[in-house]
Amino acid sequence: MSNDIEYKAWRVHEKDGEYVGAEETCRVADLPANEVLIRVTHSSLNYKDALSASGNKGVTRNFPHTPGIDAAGEVVESSGTPGKGSQVIVTGYDLGMNTPGGFGEYIRVPAQWCVEMPAGWDARKAMIYGTAGLTAGLCVNKLLRMGAAPEQGPVVVTGASGAVGTVAVEILAGLGFEVTAVSGKEDQVDALKGLGATAVVGRETLEASPKPMLKPVFANAVDTVGGAPLAELLKQVLPGGSVSCCGLVAGPKVETTVMPFILRGVNLLGVDSVEIPLDQKRQVWHKLSSDWACPKTEAAARDIGRGDLDGALRAFLKGESIGKIVLDHAR
Ligand SMILES: NC(=O)c1ccc[n+]([C@@H]2O[C@H](COP(=O)([O-])OP(=O)(O)OC[C@H]3O[C@@H](n4cnc5c(N)ncnc54)[C@H](OP(=O)(O)O)[C@@H]3O)[C@@H](O)[C@H]2O)c1
Repeated sequence: MSNDIEYKAWRVHEKDGEYVGAEETCRVADLPANEVLIRVTHSSLNYKDALSASGNKGVTRNFPHTPGIDAAGEVVESSGTPGKGSQVIVTGYDLGMNTPGGFGEYIRVPAQWCVEMPAGWDARKAMIYGTAGLTAGLCVNKLLRMGAAPEQGPVVVTGASGAVGTVAVEILAGLGFEVTAVSGKEDQVDALKGLGATAVVGRETLEASPKPMLKPVFANAVDTVGGAPLAELLKQVLPGGSVSCCGLVAGPKVETTVMPFILRGVNLLGVDSVEIPLDQKRQVWHKLSSDWACPKTEAAARDIGRGDLDGALRAFLKGESIGKIVLDHAR
């Protein structure tokens, strides 16, 4: 019986206000009673995992806890669809927040959280993209739905060297956009150009200015950082342009005036990858596995084992993480 299975997981414990993660042996019997039991072979690292692992109560309320908002692997027990033997992807909803996540070798989740693996993909390939890739795809999707097109001018991507940013740069460049990457990492200039960025500029491009409006230079934008840089970005968007906003590494608070909206008709588009209907996720997974594939991001992805998680997650909190990192449970 599956309930007898023991498995390895990277679990975070709270002790005297400190949060410490380590590998331990868990039992399938202790997983929540949902419809689909999945043997997870791969997960993916995200900024949110770093928040969970460091005790951010907005992400994870109770410890001990197994983080991992992404998981891919094989269904080993199911009361319906997807059936036993299916290869599936699970991202978002409550996975890795207050439901044990992909940093464990098994998860048990509701059937409506599972997307079937796109044709030609395996679990590792799916987890190169993970929530970050899905989010980049959703950001691009929203821009396109607003009518964004390459001939309108450059599209800017902030937090460009990060997990969402790198995928956004490569998708947009692949679609023929002239991409300006904003990055705080001088040593990533060549890598970002290799992904297709036409120009790489420093974070000072979006430094706080007292002016309510600035010279408009960007036709559209994918913003992964939020905070003060987003407020500055809005001042530099061309009339009718759109900004997909998905992140908050520079802070959750955006102090802006209405000027970009009422004088230039700028559109601020919210992007959520977590709670949206499964079908919207499915459509973007399909795009990522076909027209929007990012071969350079795939080639540059790094694989780590559970023993490397602590250092890799700390790098996210310091803004030092680069590109896509895959957790391979077999390492
Ligand atoms: N809405 C959703 O559903 C959704 C889904 C996924 C992620 N997110 C959010 O999107 C954001 C990015 O996630 P991620 O996984 O890509 O994280 P990440 O890999 O850490 O990338 C974030 C990047 O932002 C830049 N950065 C870091 N600190 C900064 C600061 N203080 N000011 C300006 N730039 C800074 C860095 O890039 P450079 O050094 O190149 O500037 C960093 O690599 C996070 O806030 C995450 O929570 C949201």
